[in-house]
Amino acid sequence: MGQNPAMSMPLLKLQERVYPTIAPWRRDQLARQLDVFPEGQLVAERDDRIVGCASSLVIVWDEWADEHTWREITAAGTFSTHNPEGLTLYGAEVFVDPTLRGQRIGHHLYEGRRQMCRRLNLRRIIACGRLPGYSAVAEQMPVELYVKKVLWGDLVDPVLSFQLREGFRFCGIMSDYLPDVVDSCGHASLIAWVNSGYQSKRPTALQTSSTDTGGLQP
Ligand SMILES: CC(C)(COP(=O)(O)OP(=O)(O)OC[C@H]1O[C@@H](n2cnc3c(N)ncnc32)[C@H](O)[C@@H]1OP(=O)(O)O)[C@@H](O)C(=O)NCCC(=O)NCCS
Repeated sequence: MGQNPAMSMPLLKLQERVYPTIAPWRRDQLARQLDVFPEGQLVAERDDRIVGCASSLVIVWDEWADEHTWREITAAGTFSTHNPEGLTLYGAEVFVDPTLRGQRIGHHLYEGRRQMCRRLNLRRIIACGRLPGYSAVAEQMPVELYVKKVLWGDLVDPVLSFQLREGFRFCGIMSDYLPDVVDSCGHASLIAWVNSGYQSKRPTALQTSSTDTGGLQP
């Protein structure tokens, strides 16, 4: 995996293929992400080709826990909401080349995030995941029942089932998180992975390196 600004064009082309109906990031958004939190932006490569990406920022979770949209928490994809004082690594985006799904590239990207979380001594990873399987059954059940059926193993959701296998816990539904995403009917699942090695008496690596070291955040 790597992080290199020169990769932006191939990455944006891949994002276009992953989400054909949604505008990809602009180059300036991607540049801001790399500027704000370079170590949080991971790409997966195979044969010198970008085949996946996982983008993250750090936040003070209590400021966002009640309700938020993707647009609000990522500052419209610029990550200017990144806060080095925070204890929470927030997963803003993850995707894998559609022709290479099921080959554990997503697993390696998630493992990269877990390693980042441990290395920076962050308390947890939180993300709000799309529910792309929901729209097909939306007329038959509310989203809460859909997610229960995924948790029970009666249904498979291409994103949530993957995230549960990666050790994330389902924490609730975020309505209107992605209002334009039709396959999820705008909903997302709030998921969390807790870093069992987090040391609460030690500042995070980002708190140590920031000029204003501040105090530990709840
Ligand atoms: C979610 C996503 C990142 C997973 O990536 P991936 O590389 O397919 O993930 P993995 O291969 O590590 O794991 C997928 C699991 O599904 C299984 N699988 C089998 N065939 C599959 C297929 N055709 N497609 C997807 N997964 C498949 C894999 O075996 C694996 O299960 P396992 O962990 O029990 O072995 C990918 O599906 C994706 O890019 N989705 C579209 C973008 C998106 O919605 N991202 C989420 C934003 S919230």
